[in-house]
Amino acid sequence: MMGSVASATRVRVLEKSQQDQLKKQAGATAARLVEDGMIVGLGTGSTAQYAIAALGHRVAEEGIRIFGIPTSARTMQQAQSVGIPLTSFAEHVAIDLTIDGADEILPGPLYLIKGHGGALLREKIVAAASKRMVVVADDTKLVKTLGVTCSVPTEIVPFGWEATQKKLEKLNARPALRLGADGKPYITDGGHYILDCSFGAMSDPKETAHHLDHVVGLVEHGLFLKFATEAVIAGADGIKVLKKQS
Ligand code: A5P
Repeated sequence: MMGSVASATRVRVLEKSQQDQLKKQAGATAARLVEDGMIVGLGTGSTAQYAIAALGHRVAEEGIRIFGIPTSARTMQQAQSVGIPLTSFAEHVAIDLTIDGADEILPGPLYLIKGHGGALLREKIVAAASKRMVVVADDTKLVKTLGVTCSVPTEIVPFGWEATQKKLEKLNARPALRLGADGKPYITDGGHYILDCSFGAMSDPKETAHHLDHVVGLVEHGLFLKFATEAVIAGADGIKVLKKQS
C-alpha cells in the first residue's frame, strides 16, 4: 500500500516537472518577441515567471533596453530581482507588448479565463493598455469550451461582499469566497476579495461577461475576451503560436 501511494506521488511530481518544462519553453519563446525600446507588460503566475526570468537574462546578456509594467507586487519583486527596469502608467499609458499566463484558453477568438493567481484586476488593466498581448501556457490550458476546467475569478469590494455574492448566485455563478493559507479571505494587491464563480461550460462567454460587467460591487472578472492577440503554447510536440482569429 505504502509503495503504491509513493509511486503515485512520484508520477504526479514527474508530471508537474514536465509541465514546468513546457511552461519554461513557452515563457522563453515569448521573451524572444520583446524588442529593444519596448514597454512590456509583465504578467503574473508560474508561466509568466519563466518569461520574466528569460527577459531578465536578455537585459543582462544582450543589453536590450526595455521598461516593464508589472501586474502584481510579486511580479514587481521578481522583475527587480532579475534587473528589468520598471516604469508606470504615469510615464507610459501605452504598452507595446504584454506577456501573461492564463487558466483557460479558447483557440480561435483567444478568449481567456485568468485570475487564479489572484492578480486579475491589474492584469486586465495592463492587457487593456497593450497593443499586443501574448499568452504563455502549456497545452493543458487549451479548452474547447470556456469554463470546463476552472471557475471564473471575480474581484469584489469587501464592503457589502455578501450582497455581491447574492447577486452572483442569481446569475447561477455558485460564487465561493477565496481564502488564504491562514483561512482568512484572500486579499488582492488592490485590497479586494475574490469570489470564484463556477458557471461550468459557458456556451456564450460574451453574455456571461456582460452580466458580470453589471454586478455592483464587482470590480473586474477573469473573462478576458478581447485582449489576447496571440498565444505561445508548449506541448510534447513542440511550440505552437496561435493567432487570434477575428
Ligand atoms: C494570475 O492572476 C493568473 O491570471 C495567471 O496568469 C494564471 O492563473 C496562469 O497561471 P499559471 O501560469 O501559474 O498557470
